[in-house]
Amino acid sequence: MKKAYSLILCCLGVPLLVMYSACDGNQNEKTDGKIAMSFSLVPAKELGITVHRVNVRLEGPSNSEMDLTLSDDNTTAEGELTGLPPGTYTVFLTLYNVDSDTVGFGSDDIEVKAGEITDVDMNITLYSTTGGIRFNITWNTGGPKLPAVPYDYAGAIANMPAYLKNYLTANPTVDNTPNDNLLTNDGATLGRVLFYDKAMSVNNTISCGSCHHQDKAFVDGGAVSTGFEGGHTRRNSMPLTNVRFFKAKAMFWDMRAVTLETQALLPITDPVEMGMPSLEALVDKLKTKPYYPALFEKAFGTQDITADRISKALAQFLRSIVSFNSKYDQGLDNNLANLTDQEKNGLLSFQQLNCVECHSDLSTIFPRKNPTMFIVENSGLNTGFGSNNALDVTYADNGIGERTNEAKDMGTFKMPALRNIELTAPYMHDGRFATLEDVLDHYQTGAKNHPNRGIQIPSGGYGTSVLTEQKKADIIAFLKTLTDQSFINDPKYSDPFK
Ligand code: HEC
Ligand code: HEC
Repeated sequence: MKKAYSLILCCLGVPLLVMYSACDGNQNEKTDGKIAMSFSLVPAKELGITVHRVNVRLEGPSNSEMDLTLSDDNTTAEGELTGLPPGTYTVFLTLYNVDSDTVGFGSDDIEVKAGEITDVDMNITLYSTTGGIRFNITWNTGGPKLPAVPYDYAGAIANMPAYLKNYLTANPTVDNTPNDNLLTNDGATLGRVLFYDKAMSVNNTISCGSCHHQDKAFVDGGAVSTGFEGGHTRRNSMPLTNVRFFKAKAMFWDMRAVTLETQALLPITDPVEMGMPSLEALVDKLKTKPYYPALFEKAFGTQDITADRISKALAQFLRSIVSFNSKYDQGLDNNLANLTDQEKNGLLSFQQLNCVECHSDLSTIFPRKNPTMFIVENSGLNTGFGSNNALDVTYADNGIGERTNEAKDMGTFKMPALRNIELTAPYMHDGRFATLEDVLDHYQTGAKNHPNRGIQIPSGGYGTSVLTEQKKADIIAFLKTLTDQSFINDPKYSDPFK
């Protein structure tokens, strides 16, 4: 079996990835280690320094040295060192210009340990000659790159269409923000850093963002997700769009986390997902990162790092992830005049077939109004908590029922948000449907006669005469109006370590 260990060396404002891998089962089992490096030279170039040679020297259980291979445009450097026994090494990195003058230097100690990945924050000092003036620039580059003025998270909902704002004013309990954790720009900024920091996992391989990709509305595209040691989660990753507007507050497919604050800590110590032995171990680890004290101080007033603050900051960032700039939203204040006839027909079918009762707000049902498409109700029309959409007669995963052990909850799951649904395939708690067409086929003729089946869904499905091929296509066209391109490209939700 092949094992791979990676060390993240960060320099020049970008991660410098050092991979060490040892192969079991060959004759060099103990000594055949490998370090591979790859990093960007763009930050040096931005300072007017073109790097023409990068030399790496290792001192430790075995000494070695090599030049990295530069890309044609001198913007990336990469290479591998092989045959290294595990142990403590000092890494020296030297950057040269075209005249073989040293233009940059950095060093750090790394511990090559079986089964673990070592984080290395390397300070690189750059020397440059500009107009005869020589200057030194030193920067610690292991940390995130954040804007000088934080992004606007707290005020984001001020930009909502009036239609949605009015709805929220009339229904204030839809917003699950607790009084003791109001959203601030500095709090959400800290949450963003924590969300994308691989140091949150025991071996520095996985962050929350590894399973929640912004370009996919924060799912990862797999039927199930892969954790820090390659293990698989039991369920499909969930989109993180508008979790703030989920009135029942509870998170996960089985709604086992009562609030976002509770939810945010669970993946960290999950034995499949991030594998930290304890929250105390996480706190101790984050204390060793030079960039956290200032971020905690801005967010909470003092530099103290605690599990409670980590959960609050993550929850603030999660609540900041709001999406309301889709084509559908753009039309809400104008009664959807911007939608095509097919898209409008799709919405009407979505309403007439009562999809809206489970997937949006009940208050728009009678008299019929345009639904907000927030998932706000989950009011337990059918079973008292979640809902069953007739996927199976017998569920391998009974969802909420597995927690409560009550017959009425068997096979019931949290009702998912359909905003950005075009981006969040595959679908359902187990990722069983690859496409929206497959989902609509299920509702048309695939629905099973489960005792907890939602009353809106007929046994056997809506049938081909009620949910016709045309209506299926219309509904899908409508669902695609919920895709928000600005949301998936918004830098304030992006990975600050990139
Ligand atoms: C290994 C992949 C993985 C990692 C890492 C991960 N998640 Fe998830 N996330 C999932 C999966 C899978 C689910 C659904 C799990 C379930 O319902 O049992 C989920 C569900 C969620 C939900 C519930 C959304 C809802 O509508 O109920 C939130 C919120 C969330 N994750 C946030 C986070 C945060 C914050 C982190 C980091 C601290 C994180 N996730 C790390 C895979 C992951
Ligand atoms: C009784 C409530 C209910 C009704 C009615 C209902 N759904 Fe669902 N829907 C659910 C639940 C619950 C799930 C998640 C089920 C699971 O994963 O086990 C779901 C899942 C989905 C998904 C996949 C979401 C994801 O992120 O994986 C789509 C798309 C969807 N439904 C569309 C529709 C459409 C279109 C209709 C009407 C034809 C409809 N639903 C009717 C409850 C309902």
